[in-house]
Amino acid sequence: MATQGFHEVVLIPGDGIGPEVSDAVRRIFAAAAAPVHWDEHVAGIAAIEGGLDVLPAATLEAIERHQVALKGPCTTPVGEGFTSVNVQLRKRLNLYAAVRPVRSLPGVSTRFENVDLIILRENTEGLYSGVENQLTNDVVMSMKVATKSACTRISHWAFRFATQRRRKKITVFHKANIMKLTDGLFLRCARSVHQTEYPNIDYQETIIDAGCMKMVQDPSQFDVLLLENLYGDVVSDLCAGLVGGLGVVPGANFGDVAAVFEAVHGSAPDIAGKGIANPLALLMSAVMMLNHLSATRGDERCKVAAERIKTAYDQALADGQKTRDLGGDLGTDAFAQAINDRLPPL
Ligand code: NAI
Repeated sequence: MATQGFHEVVLIPGDGIGPEVSDAVRRIFAAAAAPVHWDEHVAGIAAIEGGLDVLPAATLEAIERHQVALKGPCTTPVGEGFTSVNVQLRKRLNLYAAVRPVRSLPGVSTRFENVDLIILRENTEGLYSGVENQLTNDVVMSMKVATKSACTRISHWAFRFATQRRRKKITVFHKANIMKLTDGLFLRCARSVHQTEYPNIDYQETIIDAGCMKMVQDPSQFDVLLLENLYGDVVSDLCAGLVGGLGVVPGANFGDVAAVFEAVHGSAPDIAGKGIANPLALLMSAVMMLNHLSATRGDERCKVAAERIKTAYDQALADGQKTRDLGGDLGTDAFAQAINDRLPPL
């Protein structure tokens, strides 16, 4: 939906470092003349502090209306309290496919060079279904849910995505030796979609514990990873560690209608309010959002803005302009300014 030449997009700044990194993204989008108008809404602790529900109806309705959102991280209490806003959003909007590209960046030296992985995570089922029971005072239980329809849906999505991106191989990480029914179903669905529709894409399966070891020994043996919900969550952070950490890994959650773009990282309470968070992961998520707007709405200006911002942040990093998590000394605002200073002319 375009208003006076701008795409209306929901912005949820989020909690902790969320408002700081969101502000940096807004500044960079303004400097890059990205054709986006932010419709700001709250969720999470920010919503509760404003006397609203943790996921206010107005926030949900705005995403349903505009179909695209950029979301900062939302805090979830540990071991008590409300259900994660992130999980609720993914379920309510049926955002069943999460995409997390993990790539080496110029000027960020890590153990491996040229890491180029894409993590595809099923976003609606597994242990994240939140079906937990207290059986007795001392016994609790959590239900892992897998359905043929959701496992088949994410498998189709993954193979279609890999084909469109000209990726060569999909590896499923699983634990079907132990969880024979749930992970077994996930594997059967992935195999079936591979064999019947995408035989030209190389398909492999790895038991997740060994897969993690192989990943940290040599990530170049992997290309696209397909994982159920919890495994996708854990392996995303593991892979982030290969390219510089959580400050540099973006993400997107797709359904058939809406798409919500967000960094892999959380609200980072340990550094919140200090002005030192790396805004790059949210900025890269916002660049993914621009490419999505370009692809779904045919607006070339979004593609141009995405390319200019990417060129600018690559150049900033190559010039040694970095936040502390990457070994530099810039704060959030100074790093955003370093990016703006390197935006190529229109
Ligand atoms: P976290 O991702 O917030 O932080 C882990 C570590 O990475 C911390 O040391 C933090 O300082 C660092 N870090 C994260 N992002 C950074 C950035 N942009 N720049 C520099 N350093 C960064 O994970 P944690 O501490 O386990 O979770 C904190 C809260 O975030 C929890 O309430 C959790 O539920 C929530 N969370 C929310 C997510 C979301 O909204 N999508 C995703 C993950 C966690």
